[in-house]
Amino acid sequence: MENLTGKAISVIGLGVVGLTTAVGFALKGHRVTGIDIVPEKVMKIANGVNPTYEKELTEALRRVKINATTDFHHVLGSDISFLCVGTPDNADGSIDLRYVKGAAEQLAQLLMEKGTSHLVVVRSTVVPGTTEKIVAPCFKDLPEVGVCVNPEFLQEGTALEDFLTPSRIVIGEDGRRWGDMLLDLYNGTADSSSVLRTDLRTAEMIKYASNAFLATKVSFINEIGNICKELGIDVYEVARGMGHDNRIGKDFLKAGIGFGGFCLPKDTAALMMKGKETGYTPKILQEVLQLNREQPLRMLELLKIHIPSLSNKVIGILGLAFKPGTDDIRESRAIPVVEALLKEGARVRAFDSQAMPNFQKLFPQIEYCGVDEVLASDATLIVTAWDEFNRLDYSNSIVIDGRRIDAAKRAQIYEGVCW
Ligand code: UGA
Repeated sequence: MENLTGKAISVIGLGVVGLTTAVGFALKGHRVTGIDIVPEKVMKIANGVNPTYEKELTEALRRVKINATTDFHHVLGSDISFLCVGTPDNADGSIDLRYVKGAAEQLAQLLMEKGTSHLVVVRSTVVPGTTEKIVAPCFKDLPEVGVCVNPEFLQEGTALEDFLTPSRIVIGEDGRRWGDMLLDLYNGTADSSSVLRTDLRTAEMIKYASNAFLATKVSFINEIGNICKELGIDVYEVARGMGHDNRIGKDFLKAGIGFGGFCLPKDTAALMMKGKETGYTPKILQEVLQLNREQPLRMLELLKIHIPSLSNKVIGILGLAFKPGTDDIRESRAIPVVEALLKEGARVRAFDSQAMPNFQKLFPQIEYCGVDEVLASDATLIVTAWDEFNRLDYSNSIVIDGRRIDAAKRAQIYEGVCW
């Protein structure tokens, strides 16, 4: 039965963030239209099929109805539009805002026909000032259109769960009326203490500062790990000891070969570039990124202690996804590791239960196989912390572990990357 209190929402851009937003609001009883320019993706979603690898989302999509379409005109049937289009990076690390700008312009054109009030919510990750300078001006001649910023804090793999039980809801508003309208949609999702209402650019900065801080935490513990390795100290014990202090917190202190994915590396770089644009050179962010570039290459240094020349050696890779629970390989640490191995003349074979098809598009020249073949290589590098890697028998292998897989410690020769 249709929820009569539900609002009509359109979500523009159906990547992980857009689709989660669409499904999340549909679960809350709102009527959701999802718009994307990729027809195959739209077709799947319209048929209740999740085009991404997100377990909860897949189940939920079968239960709710998303009116998915490629036709932008459908925004006219809604009162609130969420902009969830991608914000890729330029070659210098700065943010490419062309999709955000394009969607806002297209929306403005259509809303001229509408005539009744409409709320535009920027949910794409955009650098501070974007909504004020690029999005809001598109609607300057439409007094009945309001603009808010509502960043997401979803982790891939648990995106829907994070939407339904968020750590906080941040509402950047330019006028209380619009913020109230946005908050109303979330009815009961978070208690009032975890709702933050700010101006537009503060909301944008909260998102960047959060991701940059998480990236910093990872690079920080990796740096401590690199020192620990030299001193024969277990950095995981150290992290456990640190985490007991609430001011530090126990999460995001897993040392290894660094952070990947489409968010932490890209957002940290974009924030650094934004800082530079203001005339200030962010020093911490610069080093966080530099350490993250070097960290995966430590695997090769350790490998070469045991196999000095990699030329024609068969090196196995366990894990290609940027983290477990996803088939996403964007900025995966497997990429620099495989590149470096190939450069040294090694023959690479790899296994990942989900990410092989995506990786194959990038590296068609390596061999994709099962775990047994990987473990039969001259040495095995563990790149992603899939649970199943903890159930393997490593006893006949040389293992360089980038993700702290306990079972691998029983390998014939074992090197943790920073423990
Ligand atoms: C990240 C943030 O965690 C989310 O809060 C944010 O909403 C999202 O970006 C976004 O901006 O959309 P996600 O990209 O899904 O989420 O990935 P994370 O779970 O943060 O992991 C990022 C990388 O850090 C992975 O490669 C992971 O292996 C690595 N990592 C994470 C570590 O090396 N150590 C840790 O302790 C934690």
